[in-house]
Amino acid sequence: MVNMSIKKKESKMASSLPSDKIILTGFMGCGKSYFSQRLAEALKLPLYDTDSLIEAKEGISITEIFSRYDESYFRTLEAEIAFDIQKSSQAAVYATGGGFPIFYHDILEIGTVIYMDIPFKQIVARMSTEDIKKRPLFQDLDQALALYNSRLELYKKRSHLQIDATQSIEQMVQCVQSFLHTR
Ligand code: S3P
Repeated sequence: MVNMSIKKKESKMASSLPSDKIILTGFMGCGKSYFSQRLAEALKLPLYDTDSLIEAKEGISITEIFSRYDESYFRTLEAEIAFDIQKSSQAAVYATGGGFPIFYHDILEIGTVIYMDIPFKQIVARMSTEDIKKRPLFQDLDQALALYNSRLELYKKRSHLQIDATQSIEQMVQCVQSFLHTR
C-alpha cells in the first residue's frame, strides 16, 4: 500500500519534468505556431504541430480536409494524432490546433498543457487575410466569436498553466521556463 502511493508520487513528478511533452493550446490565431518555435528552441526540444502532422498523414491541407470531407472527419484524424502523441515517449513541444483540447478530453494526461490566453479582439487585430483563409472555422467573425466564447472555460480547465499571450515572446518563454522549473 505504502509502496504504491510512493510510486504514484514519483510518476506524477516524472510527468512534470521539463523534459516531458509540452502541449501548447489556444484559440485559432493566438500565436501558437510562432511561440512554439521559440519555446522549443529555448527548451532544446523538437517541435511538432498537430495540424502539420494531420496534413502530412492525409497529403492535403486542413482547408482541403474540411471541404472534401467535414469537421467530424478532421476530428477523427486529430484524435488519431492525439493518441499517437499520448503513446509516444518522446519529449517535445507540441503546438495543437484550436479544437484539440476541446475534443481530446484526456489532454491533461499527455503532458504539461499550456494555454495561451488572449482576448478575441486581439486575435482579430493580429490576423491577416491569409491567416483567415487557412482556417475553415474562422470564415465568419460572429461565429468565430461564439466559438471562442464557448471554448474559453474548457481551455482554462484543461491546462496546467495559462499564459498571457499578449506579452512578448521572451516574457512568455520565461513564464513557461520558470513554471517548469518550479514544478
Ligand atoms: C481549428 C483550429 C485550426 C485547425 C482547424 C480547426 C479549431 O488550427 O486545427 O482548422 O477547431 O479551432 P489553429 O488553431 O492552428 O488555427
